[in-house]
Amino acid sequence: MQTTTAQHSLWLADTPDAGYPSLSGTTRCDVAVVGGGWTGLTTALLLKRAGVRVAVVEAARVGAGVSGNNTAKVSALQATMYSRIAREHGAAAAADYARASTAGVELVAELAAREGIDCDPRRRTAVTYASTEQERDAVEAEAEAAREAGLEVTLDVGPDLPFPTYGAVGLDEQLLLHPRRYAAGLAAAVEGDGCRVFERSRVRQVREGKPCRVVTAEGTVTADRVVIATHYPILDRGVFFARLEATRAYCVAARLREGTPPAVMAISAGSPAWSTSASADLLILAGQSHPAGRREAGTRPYDELTAFARRHWEVEEITHRWSAQDPIPYDHLPMIGTYRPGLDRVYVATGYQKWGLSTSAFAAIILADLLTGKPNPWADRFSPHRLSVRAAPTLARLNTTVAANLVGDRLRAPDTTTPADVPPGEARVVRDRQGKTGVYRDEDGKLHAVSLRCTHLGCLLRFNDAERSWDCPCHGSRFDVDGAVLEGPATRPLPRREPPGNSR
Ligand code: FES
Repeated sequence: MQTTTAQHSLWLADTPDAGYPSLSGTTRCDVAVVGGGWTGLTTALLLKRAGVRVAVVEAARVGAGVSGNNTAKVSALQATMYSRIAREHGAAAAADYARASTAGVELVAELAAREGIDCDPRRRTAVTYASTEQERDAVEAEAEAAREAGLEVTLDVGPDLPFPTYGAVGLDEQLLLHPRRYAAGLAAAVEGDGCRVFERSRVRQVREGKPCRVVTAEGTVTADRVVIATHYPILDRGVFFARLEATRAYCVAARLREGTPPAVMAISAGSPAWSTSASADLLILAGQSHPAGRREAGTRPYDELTAFARRHWEVEEITHRWSAQDPIPYDHLPMIGTYRPGLDRVYVATGYQKWGLSTSAFAAIILADLLTGKPNPWADRFSPHRLSVRAAPTLARLNTTVAANLVGDRLRAPDTTTPADVPPGEARVVRDRQGKTGVYRDEDGKLHAVSLRCTHLGCLLRFNDAERSWDCPCHGSRFDVDGAVLEGPATRPLPRREPPGNSR
């Protein structure tokens, strides 16, 4: 049977859109939340429960960003996170991260149950395994660091995987669920009783003041305070873009001819990492990550994942494929708190390092506590304004890379291709009097041309042929072939251009 692989996540495929209205006119509330993913919706719901009137403003559809494009793992055991945090920040930081992550997992379970969300939650063991003899030390170190951080991990669990492993550490009672349905359930719980959810409302501006103003093309929310929960922060104040590196990773879902997907959710300890998960009936594989906008030429992430799946399982078909982006903080701790030091009107949560389902939940706990004046035991630890002296070299490397992309791209000789030479399904850079133009030819032969200057800070975009998007190597903004923003921090579309010269 010939089937077609869906070019989106399986979580997006079967969640009906609720169809919340877009923002128009002026709406007044206590707290405006920008971003309708797990972080924004969970924060909004916790605030609503505390008697706060909230309005969530989502650029696209609730839960349709990275909240609906992931492996569905809600876990406090996260590859080799505890060894790294203990090494870079000390044992107390690792213990805080463990307690916060565990609270995040349990909050998700509690909200799913209490709100009656139809999201198929299943308790599973999370596993970090050694895929080679060389990775065994990393697994043992992770077991020790996680145990010291207070997690009841077990070493040498049998990870139920169809290939050899060389040791594994496991943590029971973690969660798998349908992440987009969970987001939809959160949104339904937020809406009503003076609280609002708006979709298809991209925020262009946030003005701090009394009140703050959150502005879209069609409307404004006025609020005492604002939470920026856009995954990668959309405001340049706070200089988050200098402290985060966006990375992109890829996923495939496979229907098996024989056998069932593994009962555990697993990830290998080394690099590149292979991540295994499951829906109710499909195997999910993830990996092949790279800095956003900077995939090595010749790499084929979906082909690699598909080959891995076929090597180890009896795959009947690859049903879905998708990718997602994550901001990695320079010092490897999430950033949750006020946007700028000393100011308490705008808040942010970001830097989840690919473990956003548990981290977004504990970020929401911290944000809700800060916004309602309750003490929170982890707020200082994850404050965006901490100083991480030991991570200074990483910070320097990040910004050198961005500078090199900014300057290097301006110096690089342009591609001299003309539009006539662009084959269907491919893109080229063409230089003419308009400057550098990105030209993509679709399968029907139609040309799509856009300016290639990222509308965030002006880096030159590169074509991502796996996703057919124009991606920014500096901070990870992404645009479709007609210039619409797919991913921030950019909030404005690329100017569209007439295809230079001719058409085929
Ligand atoms: Fe910052 Fe493009 S995302 S310059």
